Amino acid sequence: MANRFPNILHHRVPILAGVHPNACFTHFSTSSKSLSSSRYYPARRRLVFGVGVSFLSQFINMSAANSIIASARTKGSVDQILENVDWPEQFPFRDEDFQRFDESSDLVFYESPRFVTHIDDPAIAALTKYYQEVFPPSNTTGVALLDMCSSWISHYPPGYKQERIVGMGLNEEELKANKVLTEYLVQDLNVNPKLPFEDNTFDVITNVVSVDYLTKPIEVFKEMRRILKPGGKAIMSFSNRCFFTKAISIWTSTGDADHVMIVGAYFHYAGGFEPPQALDISPNPGRSDPMYIVHSSKLATA
Ligand SMILES: C[S@@+](CC[C@H](N)C(=O)[O-])C[C@H]1O[C@@H](n2cnc3c(N)ncnc32)[C@H](O)[C@@H]1O
Repeated sequence: MANRFPNILHHRVPILAGVHPNACFTHFSTSSKSLSSSRYYPARRRLVFGVGVSFLSQFINMSAANSIIASARTKGSVDQILENVDWPEQFPFRDEDFQRFDESSDLVFYESPRFVTHIDDPAIAALTKYYQEVFPPSNTTGVALLDMCSSWISHYPPGYKQERIVGMGLNEEELKANKVLTEYLVQDLNVNPKLPFEDNTFDVITNVVSVDYLTKPIEVFKEMRRILKPGGKAIMSFSNRCFFTKAISIWTSTGDADHVMIVGAYFHYAGGFEPPQALDISPNPGRSDPMYIVHSSKLATA
């Protein structure tokens, strides 16, 4: 069972084997822009061996579970985490799992623009390459994309265009500066998880390094399902960095492999999605930021 955030606050135990060593720092990369307008949290991030193992073993019903955990950073092993998951019947998380250290308004936290990148350049390049492989071709009539938790940058392939690319986020100045977007809106998803779009609108929904800030993820994922076209794809990507005080406690108390399972669980319990799949697209394990994808498509019948 996962520890509650307050219980593990001072709990230091061995690092989860195989997790990127930089995972205990929560700062964001400053690779291309200044971080001066950003809040910077060099706080330690706990990697709790006991939590990671017990958390994963709640879900995985296969003998290889422990070896997957132990080799979470071996190329290919993360990709297997969502295979053959024996999901519990009931949603396995508790309300406390979605609490944050800082429960003040997210709009206030994001009120100053941060024209920074939150992962390093190789991780961004890996994500952009992945998008290039799976996105509908640029300029396809009728195609619409939504970048949730967006900012001044969406990491889409250079020159990528569609009739409609919507950005949602919390800082208007950042969204206004995002050149790939054709429209944007500011909405706090932790206050209002309802997505203001018609059913079956989008071909692709992306969310980059931000799924860990959602305190009502099942509501949001159900909404994502509703607004995706049948067969439409939701792509959640994340690394091992975060605004520590704003990420949910189940995220800050677990490691990379667990995060894959957590996001997989969101798809599973929201319902109406194909079984989620995980991908480790880390460009240079151990030397640059890791990058993971958990993705799924809306069922044709949902
Ligand atoms: C770490 S930044 C990532 C921004 C962008 N996706 C990127 O890759 O650079 C986190 C983003 O999540 C968004 N976000 C955080 N909390 C949110 C909330 N409660 N509702 C909506 N968006 C939120 C913020 O607007 C912010 O841009």
